[in-house]
Amino acid sequence: MNLGQKTLLVVSLTVAGVMIVLYAVSRDVLLRSYLALEQEQTRSAVSRTEAALNDQLTALARTTNDYGAWDRTYAFMQHPSRGYIKQEFENDTLEGLHINSVMLANTAQKIVFFKAYDSVAKAQVGVPVEIQRSVATDFRARQAAATSTPAHGILLLPQGPVLIAACPILTSARLGPVRGVLVMTRNLDPSLVEGLKERALLSVAVDLASSPSLPADVRGALQALESSGEKIHVQSLNQISVAGYSILRDIHGRTALLLRVEMPRSVFQRGLTSLRYLLLTLCIASVVFGLTTLLLLQRIVLARLTYLTAEVGRIGSGKSGDLSERILERGSDEIGRLGRDINRMLEALQKNAGLERLNEALRQEIEERQLAENARNQMAVELLQSQKLKAIGALAAGVAHEINTPIQFVGDNTRFLHDAFADLAKLLEQYELLYQQIRDGAGKPALDSMDEARERVDLEFLRAEIPAALDQTLDGIGRVATIVRALKSFSHVDAGAQKKAADLNSALESTIVVVRNELKYVADVETAFGNLPQVTCYLGDLNQVFLNLMLNAAHSIGDVVEGTDKKGCIRVETHLDSTPDGDWAEVLISDTGTGIPEGVRERIFEPFFTTKPVGKGTGQGLALARSVVVEKHGGALTFDTEMGRGTTFHVRIPVNGIVVPASGSAAGQTMGFGPASAATV
Ligand SMILES: Nc1ncnc2c1ncn2[C@@H]1O[C@H](COP(=O)(O)OP(=O)(O)OP(=O)(O)O)[C@@H](O)[C@H]1O
Ligand SMILES: [Mg+2]
Repeated sequence: MNLGQKTLLVVSLTVAGVMIVLYAVSRDVLLRSYLALEQEQTRSAVSRTEAALNDQLTALARTTNDYGAWDRTYAFMQHPSRGYIKQEFENDTLEGLHINSVMLANTAQKIVFFKAYDSVAKAQVGVPVEIQRSVATDFRARQAAATSTPAHGILLLPQGPVLIAACPILTSARLGPVRGVLVMTRNLDPSLVEGLKERALLSVAVDLASSPSLPADVRGALQALESSGEKIHVQSLNQISVAGYSILRDIHGRTALLLRVEMPRSVFQRGLTSLRYLLLTLCIASVVFGLTTLLLLQRIVLARLTYLTAEVGRIGSGKSGDLSERILERGSDEIGRLGRDINRMLEALQKNAGLERLNEALRQEIEERQLAENARNQMAVELLQSQKLKAIGALAAGVAHEINTPIQFVGDNTRFLHDAFADLAKLLEQYELLYQQIRDGAGKPALDSMDEARERVDLEFLRAEIPAALDQTLDGIGRVATIVRALKSFSHVDAGAQKKAADLNSALESTIVVVRNELKYVADVETAFGNLPQVTCYLGDLNQVFLNLMLNAAHSIGDVVEGTDKKGCIRVETHLDSTPDGDWAEVLISDTGTGIPEGVRERIFEPFFTTKPVGKGTGQGLALARSVVVEKHGGALTFDTEMGRGTTFHVRIPVNGIVVPASGSAAGQTMGFGPASAATV
């Protein structure tokens, strides 16, 4: 269910709920007030009807009083006469006065005159004596007689209810003594009820309270009135009629009759109609409100939210793929703020993406550099390898050359000795022969051939040359042995990874022998070895250092003496330097070469830095030397140089082989290989 549908549902439910509650409340309030109004109206109708009945009763009482307090009646009671009766109580008179019976009784309660008139039949009727007596003895009538106070009310007689009024018989001036009581009745018959109806313009009914055939509603109302004690009871009969009831008490205050006034429920009907209008109005208002709310929600909220969702989805799904896009911010309300927040978020994302790209680029660059570094290292290893091979090749060639000279003259001498020995052997044969012939006594011819042989062999020459040849051969063999020993000591000393005590002087000698062929054409080598103790070191590595320094010296001198028949000088010096930090073996290799130009002094220890043409130098000699001396031995490698005079490299190695950490000492200062360590002489 999307937001629009949910909103529709919520708004519809809310509107329906509000409508139902409103209708229920209004219906309750309205109907209650209409019902109250209806009750009020009904009560007032009942009161009006009661008043109308009372009016009738009052009229009867007034008539009774008029007759009772009248001199003629007063006189009649003393002297009854027919004339008075005839004049005053004729049928027409009674009809006109709405009187149905007249009774005059004296103070002894003896009925003096009684007349009953049937207003329907319009004729005098007889009334049973018991009834006359009961009227006469009625206590109110008696009371009227006794107290001179008129009384009136309703009286239930066997033939039906009547309105009754009684008054004492007095003079017209209302003076006594009382001569009896005048009682007049009026039947409470349908005609009277009809009169009430006409006055009240309503449906009026009077029922005997004691009647067994009372209608159900009347009986219920009677019970309600008696139990509640209220004067008027109202109850609706159906949707169109309502009835009001009140008890009519008789002259004794007893429940006698029940007055029932029925009226149409016009007020209630109007209320219902109003309710229907209200319902209709509510429905229309709800629909209008609901639609307006929906429309406004759609315009103010939903449409904007839909736009935001679509935009965020479009940018986020990567369809546009462009985080630099922004959402249109509309309004300053929450949705507008949401739009701005989304834009801020996009901005942050964009920055992040930029950073991410930067990171990626950096990663790639690092990888590339790593690869380049690896390639460079690989190249360095390969170069080192090739340099080693080249150096070995050069050394081998030099050594071969060195060995070649003595071997050559050893060979020449050996061949000479071989030939000389053949000659000598022949001479020896002649001597043997001479010896035999002398023994046999035939010496002269033998001596002659002997002289001939000696001449042929040139014995003097052989006697002089053979010892010289043998000496030279021995010298040659000694030189070859020296070279082989030097080669052996140069090449086998670094077997093993441990530092070992070594004699640096003899190591330098061996190195000089090994590189002699490289040096001898450009320089003479001078050595000045001091007394050095055994130095704990990696001798093979140090030999490499010395070799490189000597080769550099030879190359530098070569640059100076090239094209001339002059030679330079390479001087190798050693001495012991005792300092508070310990003993140091110092090796100085000086040359009379070009000197190192100022511009390159700072860089000569950098790996691959060379000023030599391709094929002659790889720029690794001094880098390697620095690494061996400084890092592996904790020593120092420095140089003094002067252009046109030459260069001296100083190698300092701790005698005991312990790597001393750099400090303010001499060792620390000379360990460097940068500009600070380069000193110009
Ligand atoms: N004794 C020296 N006299 C003059 N310049 C020197 C001397 N020793 C070294 N240099 C300079 O220092 C540079 C670096 O020397 P290094 O031994 O490291 O490399 P290389 O001799 O050029 O090549 P490689 O030793 O690898 O064959 C040389 O090219 C040279 O310019
Ligand atoms: Mg070199």
